[in-house]
Amino acid sequence: MEYADLLIENHGKVVVIRLNRPKAMNALNDNMMNELGHALYQYDADPAVNVIILTGSEKVFAAGADIAAMANYTYADTYPGNYIGRNWEHILNVRKPVIGVVAGYALGGGCELAMMCDFLIASDKAKFGQPEIKVGVTPGAGGTQRLPRTIGKSKAMDMLLTSRMIDALEAERTGLVSRIFPAETLMEEALAVANTIAEMPVTVAMAIKDSVNRAFETTLTEGVRYERRFFHAAFGTPAQKEGMSAFLEKRKANFEGM
Ligand code: CAA
Repeated sequence: MEYADLLIENHGKVVVIRLNRPKAMNALNDNMMNELGHALYQYDADPAVNVIILTGSEKVFAAGADIAAMANYTYADTYPGNYIGRNWEHILNVRKPVIGVVAGYALGGGCELAMMCDFLIASDKAKFGQPEIKVGVTPGAGGTQRLPRTIGKSKAMDMLLTSRMIDALEAERTGLVSRIFPAETLMEEALAVANTIAEMPVTVAMAIKDSVNRAFETTLTEGVRYERRFFHAAFGTPAQKEGMSAFLEKRKANFEGM
């Protein structure tokens, strides 16, 4: 399907969804978020796809919610219609791994959307920030919640209250991003990471994602119980048979279709 504000690239078992509103710094408007939800659900359900990459352009992942679109909103336009809540969080329902690949700016809602990915890979030129305070609002897509959980309270408060941006090195140091690559080879390297995951059994990848996310929603004891159910269930799957046989037979496992 063709999208107005997204570009889709297929790379075997990896699909790249690219935010694409170049004239507006990929500002996230309703249409783009509706399209993103549609694309994410489509590829999550596609048996040919094991991993989804969400990215933007070389200059910008996304510069936040669309300020031009919301500048004249009143409370009556936001609360009853559940602005943000209505279409920004489809990504949280995706069961396959979603890697956020950030080149350039990830600001405001752009940083919040990035934080909803499973993990982030950044270019050495990436910049992250929550400058909502400068336009007179609080973050609205989880910035005050996910940022402190990810980088700690002090750094999060600093970023949220001063609107200062952090660069890729600081983002990596604080755990916001997992790896940094040179801007020139970012997508190549990100695809290599995605392909490594895509060659693993997708059902196990989904279970690991589900279990890790549980860690943020429950107690440690309950989380470990949750994990153990997946571990026990794995013994009823072809992936466990293939993975362990391949190890003992000293060959590469083939998890095709698992
Ligand atoms: N919404 C709408 N349009 C935006 C935008 C946004 N968030 N960010 C940039 N644009 C537009 C600019 O208005 C400009 O449009 P025109 O060419 O028509 O004037 C175009 O994109 C290019 O932007 P700049 O000229 O500003 O480019 P720059 O390279 O000088 O600066 C930038 C880039 C640092 C990203 C700067 O554009 C910027 O600071 N953007 C706003 C960031 C921001 O405040 N984000 C938070 C939004 S609120 C939010 O996200 C709420 C939430 O939590 C959900």
